[in-house]
Amino acid sequence: MCGIVAYKGHKNCYPILLDGLHKLEYRGYDSAGVACLAENGKITVTKRSGKVKQLEDGLKKNNLIENCNGSGIAHTRWATHGKPNQVNAHPHKDQSGNIVLVHNGIIENYDPIKKFLRSKKVKFKSETDTEVLVQLIGYFFNQGKLNFEQSVRAALQRVDGAYGIVVLNKKEPDVMIAARKGSPLVLGIKDKEFFIGSDISPIIKHTQQIIYLEDAQMTIIDGDEFKITSIDEDLSLPKKVEKIDFKIDDYDKGEFKYFMHKEIHEQVDTIRNTVTGRTKKGNIILHGLLDYWHEIKQADKIFITACGTSWHAGLIGKNLIERFAKVPVHVEYASEFRYNKTLVDNKSVVIAISQSGETADTLAAIKKANDCGAITVGICNVPGSSVSRETNCGIFTRCGHEVGVASTKAFTAQISILYLYALKLADSNDSMSKKTIKEHLDFGEGLKKIKHVLNKENEIKKIALKYKNANDFLYLGRGLNFPVALEGALKLKEISYIHAEGYPAAEMKHGPIALVDKDMPNVFIVPKDKTYEKIISNIEEIKSRKGKIIIITDSKDKILKDLANDLIYVPKTNHYMFCVFATIVLQLFAYYIAVGKKLNVDRPRNLAKSVTVE
Ligand code: F6R
Repeated sequence: MCGIVAYKGHKNCYPILLDGLHKLEYRGYDSAGVACLAENGKITVTKRSGKVKQLEDGLKKNNLIENCNGSGIAHTRWATHGKPNQVNAHPHKDQSGNIVLVHNGIIENYDPIKKFLRSKKVKFKSETDTEVLVQLIGYFFNQGKLNFEQSVRAALQRVDGAYGIVVLNKKEPDVMIAARKGSPLVLGIKDKEFFIGSDISPIIKHTQQIIYLEDAQMTIIDGDEFKITSIDEDLSLPKKVEKIDFKIDDYDKGEFKYFMHKEIHEQVDTIRNTVTGRTKKGNIILHGLLDYWHEIKQADKIFITACGTSWHAGLIGKNLIERFAKVPVHVEYASEFRYNKTLVDNKSVVIAISQSGETADTLAAIKKANDCGAITVGICNVPGSSVSRETNCGIFTRCGHEVGVASTKAFTAQISILYLYALKLADSNDSMSKKTIKEHLDFGEGLKKIKHVLNKENEIKKIALKYKNANDFLYLGRGLNFPVALEGALKLKEISYIHAEGYPAAEMKHGPIALVDKDMPNVFIVPKDKTYEKIISNIEEIKSRKGKIIIITDSKDKILKDLANDLIYVPKTNHYMFCVFATIVLQLFAYYIAVGKKLNVDRPRNLAKSVTVE
């Protein structure tokens, strides 16, 4: 989704903004732009459709890069209203050319405002909702009654929808204003320099001192000073400065060509980091839930809500909680949860899972759950994110920043948290013995073996390349491995653009089997557990229709060898860890198919890293 970076300080802002835009590229975008307000009061706006590199080339050609001490705002746009072209790219100016703005989010009532402004002879250049907002600010400012800050406030009080904005005004060149409602913004502070980002990625290199703007807040930076106020009134609010400990390494690919590849490999550490320190002598310590645990353990209904990959983790969570703690769990897409008549009440726990912590549907689901009086628990990767702030309590996955658009390490960390959560609940409601819980918490061997799975990379690559020209795939698994099948299929779709479906293995004969022919690869996830024999029958059904069979298993039985066109063995482990191993295999499988097709794995078409619109 769109990204924002802004700088105010004594340095040349172009290099800082361009570097920031590169850091934001992972979010997905189709055009980029930058506006700088120089000390001489001149605003220069440069925009390009396409990549940041094209913008950079444009700036170099015009000798602009060396050239601006002052304030600057920059943006990567992921088109919503209006085509992805240069005119619609941000920043946008008001008619007078005084005011310039970048915006993430959607202004829902842009149409009546546009009509009103047109009636006042305002002419529009783009098709965007954003231009309506900057024109409205300009309309108030240019009447001469309100100063810049008051004009921004007046305009924001009249718009509906979601926004994160940064605005400059050449008539008040010392001032930079940023505001948010629904769409996140972060302010970084370093002596007399200020950095604003839609997330911390463009800021972290410069400072670790951060303020996460809260919803409906704005910051007004004036010279070397700044204040935080609400959008509704000019009342100074406390400045909650936090020190963040994200590593700059998270934004560096190191020896890897793609972030996704790096992040798949990081799972050796990220799963360990996520569970480390959270267990002690058979007890599970989830500090973030402490204040609410008494209510959480008594809740008679548990809901899990999320989107995409995080929703798949939720399905695994349901299986684990029902299995270990014997409490029924309902899993619902956040986009459905927010509108359905789901029976949430003040005796419910609603677990919201989100890597980014900024997914609009998940946030709306949390709001609904909060409104119903439920206890909301966030499982989230980004401290300070909206999910972490809007939920009553929560647990962080500790996997560092995930840059690749296709989620990998966050998924395995989410299921690790859900595993701990399920065991803790089982412990609290006595549905599992202390001894069994202790056995479940013995991660040592399993964690060590993740390396062995990653060592299979070349083998997986060879198999992936064999199938890279297939048009459709089926992914089939049972029980805990049904969500793994869904996740494997999603990874393939996202980065290779090959159509893939995940199903419970037995469900395949209720329809999808009609698709099977000699060209169709079918990926079976086959742990040696109580479903083993049943899955073999499912494989036979596909085999007899000449479908290609790829098997991921921990069993060396001859029967699988005979059935499979290709077999990938993972180390023997318990069936919970098996899910993680199978997931990693499927991540690498999708990765190598996409690389084989020469696709940009980190930036798949049409996708955004954090989906901040409904
Ligand atoms: C898939 C993927 C998406 C996200 C989904 C939710 O690889 O990344 O399906 O899982 O958009 O995002 P978060 O977890 O940030 O709420």
